[in-house]
Amino acid sequence: MDNRNPDTLDARIAAQAAEARRLSGQIVVGGRMQPALATGSFEVENPATEEIIGEAPRCGEADVEAAVAAASEAFPKWSRTKARERGATLIAAANHLERHLEDIARLSSFETGNALATQSRGEARTMVDILRYFGGLAGEILGDTYPGDPGRMLYTRRDAMGVVGAIIPWNAPLMQTTSKIGPALAAGNTVVLKPAEQAPLAVVRIFELLQEVLPPGVANLVTGFGDEAGRLICEHPAVRKITFTGSSAVGVRIMHYAAEKIVPVTAELGGKNPIIIMEDSDIDRAVGGILQGLRLQRQGQSCSAGTRILLHEAVYDRVIEKVIDGVSGFNIGNPLDEAVQIGSIISRKQFERVLRYVDMARETPGARILCGGDRPAGLEKGYFYTTTLIEGVPETSPVACDEIFGPVATVSKWTDFDAVLKQANDTRYGLAATLFTENLPAAFRFIEEIEAGFVQVNQFAVAEANIEYGGTKLSGLGRELSLASMIQHFTWPKTVFMNTSAA
Ligand code: NAI
Ligand code: MG
Repeated sequence: MDNRNPDTLDARIAAQAAEARRLSGQIVVGGRMQPALATGSFEVENPATEEIIGEAPRCGEADVEAAVAAASEAFPKWSRTKARERGATLIAAANHLERHLEDIARLSSFETGNALATQSRGEARTMVDILRYFGGLAGEILGDTYPGDPGRMLYTRRDAMGVVGAIIPWNAPLMQTTSKIGPALAAGNTVVLKPAEQAPLAVVRIFELLQEVLPPGVANLVTGFGDEAGRLICEHPAVRKITFTGSSAVGVRIMHYAAEKIVPVTAELGGKNPIIIMEDSDIDRAVGGILQGLRLQRQGQSCSAGTRILLHEAVYDRVIEKVIDGVSGFNIGNPLDEAVQIGSIISRKQFERVLRYVDMARETPGARILCGGDRPAGLEKGYFYTTTLIEGVPETSPVACDEIFGPVATVSKWTDFDAVLKQANDTRYGLAATLFTENLPAAFRFIEEIEAGFVQVNQFAVAEANIEYGGTKLSGLGRELSLASMIQHFTWPKTVFMNTSAA
């Protein structure tokens, strides 16, 4: 490190504060970062300090109209660019983002509260990886050829849809950005994306950088509130496909907007995901899986977090003791501090949501808070919260049924495998599910019977490029991160029937 510019925590904070100010008030339309037409704005907060670090435009009709117009204008040329050339451009864009990876990660930590060392930096790598992966797949968007009949030729082609509207949340904005724009752009569509109001600035930076590589108008960004800019993007007649990640409640709204114009929706929504530990499982591996599953490097703010921990009676005490021991070892604090492993919850609203559920547990007869349930000692400012395990809440309690989206999980005891499978499926959600066992037939029965889109045995890993991801039931519709999902969700099929005989 250059000692005139030491990379201290204070220096990191000062650098990101300057960057947040530079990006304030900006959107990206038609190839240029520029101030929005909208005059209103909203504040962006650093949730680790509760300081206001910038602001973003509260876009309405004028900005959405301009962004969709720019995307519509760019579409004919981009969709007709040779697929391999389009792919090469996206790979160049991924390389360009990679050169700025560390700064993007730091800015994201600054506005989301996610720890740089354990979350944002790795997430920024995944962001690059996903874009590069889809760039490489642009030439694989194939149709089918039918068996030949004399005198006629029958085949399908997959065409780009037009302008894609993309709406993302705040919990992992870097990887969610490329999960949306990667397949959309590789398939020849153009995009208007809206980041979450809690974490817009790193996404503005990503789009600023993308303009240095992509043709103007291919990737546009407007900021704003969900039921304003978000709704206007979804309702716009020129937007022919909507891809969304967020709450199930908003997923329902999105499908209503799409229904009005019969356009397809991909929706990655919430989860309340079971982790089942069998009596024969390797205890250390299971404990490691639970610690991963809590997704503490995002303060539990992950749709696939394993927040219903179902432990066989024979291993219950031992596993709980080790998990509590494990969570107490993590270092909580300022997300830009290299030694910190767990940062802060995104906002006061989410923080209060967590407090509400923990209070509800406290008031539930028979329920017991096994660890956590409080702010960490010494962190009075910022939305920091200790990892909280709760036992003894009834299955019907909102604490056991709702997606809390924080560092909170319920634990319960079981003895009968049939019953625990039923319990695991007894949820409105169907995103992720995990089993730890050494019993192969039990593992296959779990795989067959579990109602979840992302099923794991003896590990807890997260989604990455090339591993198809998505849920069932209230957890969503469609899949992401694979070639098949790109073709299915970002192109439409055209059946071509030609008479090849001489007149
Ligand atoms: P949200 O679903 O309201 O927001 C997600 C995105 O949707 C944001 O960009 C927001 O501006 C946009 N949006 C909201 N209303 C919209 C509308 N009517 N039309 C178009 N876009 C709209 O999520 P929120 O309020 O930030 O978090 C609430 C809960 O949602 C969390 O506690 C968690 O349970 C769940 N959630 C799940 C996520 C996931 O990854 N599956 C991510 C974020 C939240
Ligand atoms: Mg909301």
